[in-house]
Amino acid sequence: MKDAQLREIEIAARALTRGRLVVFPTETVYGLGANALSPAAVEKIYQAKGRPADNPLIVHIAHPDQLKDVARVVFEEAYALFASFSPGPLTVVLPAAPNLAPQVSAGLATVAVRIPSHPVAHRLLSVAGIPVAAPSANRSGEPSPTTVEMSRQSLGERVSIFLDGGPCQIGVESTVVLVEPGRALLLRPGAITADQIQAALPNAVVTAAETEQRLKSSPGTRHRHYRPAARVILFDPSQADEAAESPVFRLPEGVSRERFGVIRSVGFNQAQLVPSTIEAECRFFRSSEEYARELYRWFVEFDAYGCTTIVAELPRPLGIGVAVRDRLFRAAGD
Ligand code: TXA
Ligand code: MG
Repeated sequence: MKDAQLREIEIAARALTRGRLVVFPTETVYGLGANALSPAAVEKIYQAKGRPADNPLIVHIAHPDQLKDVARVVFEEAYALFASFSPGPLTVVLPAAPNLAPQVSAGLATVAVRIPSHPVAHRLLSVAGIPVAAPSANRSGEPSPTTVEMSRQSLGERVSIFLDGGPCQIGVESTVVLVEPGRALLLRPGAITADQIQAALPNAVVTAAETEQRLKSSPGTRHRHYRPAARVILFDPSQADEAAESPVFRLPEGVSRERFGVIRSVGFNQAQLVPSTIEAECRFFRSSEEYARELYRWFVEFDAYGCTTIVAELPRPLGIGVAVRDRLFRAAGD
């Protein structure tokens, strides 16, 4: 890291300890951070995002040693998960310590904790030396930012300190898992898969939360999320009569044909997918990893191009494809 960037991080770390907001990069998406021990600081996050007060925040720490500062009990299962996947895109939900600002947990008795691996995030958290509450750095309901420009565009003047760490490597939010002795419940799919969690906890029962359970244990998942302004229509190639069939031709009646955003796997070109009479922006992905990395940026680009409808292909439900499908279903309103 260059000296200038280290200095910037130090200034941002000091701002955090004094109760100010800081936008910082992580390997998943950009975060909007505040001192998790200060109710006044955490309140600013809800204000800046326009976030519903019942949607709890993830607390970010630099090192597993800090777990006991934020969690009342740290189950063995949590240590095992952090040992396997941290620093990295994993969030573990545990009973909350009493010293955290109450807004962090939004009325729950638990706290979500994560140790990000991005070098800028890591440096910021270790210099600040406090746990940092941080949701994604966007206005509530908008797609999560994967570049600092996207975050600036979404939050504007509401925040004055933005740390630039380049485009995020993963692009979708962390896997969220609630742990209890002998049990792990997956609340949000991410880059760390259910199979990986099961492999790290061979003696625990690992389940993916069904919608109802998810609503109860993770209130955030009931709010509108991950939405571009355009309507999103999903295209499932495994359901199509033939793989090459254009999704644009299969639109339901009554959809305006003004301007389309189209996301498909490589192997197609725009001329094959979209008749020349229709205006469209096309994006192609080579892998689910690339799809995850680009998804939110493509959504924002489509909105900027004035697309009124986005037709997005569902990737296969393998690896990070599970997380991409989850975000696409939410964007489409399912
Ligand atoms: O990758 C990420 O996790 C990013 C980066 C910035 O770390 N953060 C992020 O935060 O996505 P946010 O606020 O957009 O999403 C937090 C998710 C929500 O679904 C929320 O309901 C859930 O975590 N959550 C937070 N605290 C919880 C708790 N105590 N119990 C259950 N779910 C919780
Ligand atoms: Mg978010």
